[in-house]
Amino acid sequence: MLDETIMKRRSYRRFADREVDKETEDELLDMTLRAPSGGNMQLWSMIRVRDPEKKTALSHTCDEQPFIAKAPLVYVFLADKYKWLEYFRLSKSDEKSGIPMRKPGIGDFHLCMQDAMAAAQTCVLAAESLGLRSCYIGDIIENWEQVKKILSLPDFAVPACMLVIGWPFGEIKAPMTKRPDREDFFFTDSYPELTYDRLAAMYHNQEEQSRENGVLPYDNTGTYADAYYNRKYTSAFMKEMNRSTALFLKPWIEG
Ligand SMILES: Cc1cc2nc3c(=O)[nH]c(=O)nc-3n(C[C@H](O)[C@H](O)[C@H](O)COP(=O)(O)O)c2cc1C
Repeated sequence: MLDETIMKRRSYRRFADREVDKETEDELLDMTLRAPSGGNMQLWSMIRVRDPEKKTALSHTCDEQPFIAKAPLVYVFLADKYKWLEYFRLSKSDEKSGIPMRKPGIGDFHLCMQDAMAAAQTCVLAAESLGLRSCYIGDIIENWEQVKKILSLPDFAVPACMLVIGWPFGEIKAPMTKRPDREDFFFTDSYPELTYDRLAAMYHNQEEQSRENGVLPYDNTGTYADAYYNRKYTSAFMKEMNRSTALFLKPWIEG
């Protein structure tokens, strides 16, 4: 039996002009905390952005997405090793063990990131189950210098993703976004050789939907690959994501 909460979820960018009451938000947060976590250490944090000026500032740093400023709940999920470094330091764990403290490395980052995304997706499904709607904002990894300042982030507490959440402003009329077919998508036991036909089959549904919507390049004759290449892979925002992420990852890589 397919679960409706999962199968009917879709990204909402326009919310009703209605606050999320404390009781509902508390339930959302309690469910989010039930996310699985590496070693049950909660290697993540989440900042609830309530200050309207900060919401507006983030709507600008996140590639100019004005709906962020209007969202009732704006949650920034962080891959967070900093709090554990502080916990170790204040607990004098290195002195007691005789093992010298080390700096976090890229593996620490990756595990924190896995934790943060598990928490974010738990929050997305929890929101759905409460009748709320949400949208990820990947652009939170842009403009690190500004985001660091807006949220007072220390090194080793870096953005994983952002969620905007609220009550739906009616139902979305457009059809659900398509996904690949199961038989085309999943690999078994090993990574296969990827032929053009295999890839075209994998993205066939999305290409078809884009063609129906008339949004493919070259007068709607291009492939889904062409569309992604032109609009996303070679875009200015992707360049900024790479610059900004390299910057906030520097201390982890040096560790
Ligand atoms: C990691 C990630 C980052 C995303 N970033 C944005 C974003 O910055 N702005 C936005 O409007 N939607 C964003 N989305 C939403 C996607 O556009 C959306 O999930 C996708 O088009 C599929 O549509 P659906 O969620 O309605 O099924 C993001 C989704 C994910 C998972």
